[in-house]
Amino acid sequence: MKRSIVVAGALVLGLGAVMAEPDQVKDTQTMMKGNGKNAGALAAMVKGEKPYDQATVDAAIKQFADTAAKLPTLFPASIKGKPFDGDYSPSSKIWEDKAGFDEHIASFAKVIGDAKGKITDLDTLKAQLSVIGKQCGGCHETFRIKKT
Ligand code: HEC
Repeated sequence: MKRSIVVAGALVLGLGAVMAEPDQVKDTQTMMKGNGKNAGALAAMVKGEKPYDQATVDAAIKQFADTAAKLPTLFPASIKGKPFDGDYSPSSKIWEDKAGFDEHIASFAKVIGDAKGKITDLDTLKAQLSVIGKQCGGCHETFRIKKT
């Protein structure tokens, strides 16, 4: 009796582990899509398509900081080779060059930390966004693959 409960429990746990993987892919993608949306909103202000809006800026920086904090856990080995829907997938270099990837995360986190509270108008936004954008692009160049 006791044994069957343990077995049933293990089965439930095992199933949970299997189901957690596609969720991680989804979570990672949702996080990156959020970054893209926020970066787009900031770029629209820089281009003059939208008026400067402090609340949008603050929300974007907050989300970037959240991403920076979560990045070390967004690409566990369990999602290596898992299909990402959409236009992009993670490069296998994330796992092959873990130290290089971690360096990108650390430098992104530092830039976001430095930008916090510094953006107060369009000029400061322009200056900071170009620094932040380089971080996004620098990581993507090596660690993101555009599907054809
Ligand atoms: C440390 C590395 C790293 C940093 C920093 C980073 N990204 Fe990414 N990003 C990735 C990887 C890897 C992928 C591919 C996996 C994916 O699509 O989720 C990705 C995917 C994306 C996507 C495509 C999402 C989709 O599937 O449609 C967007 C948009 C994006 N990133 C925006 C940004 C923006 C904007 C920033 C900066 C504010 C940023 N990223 C910073 C690694 C990074």
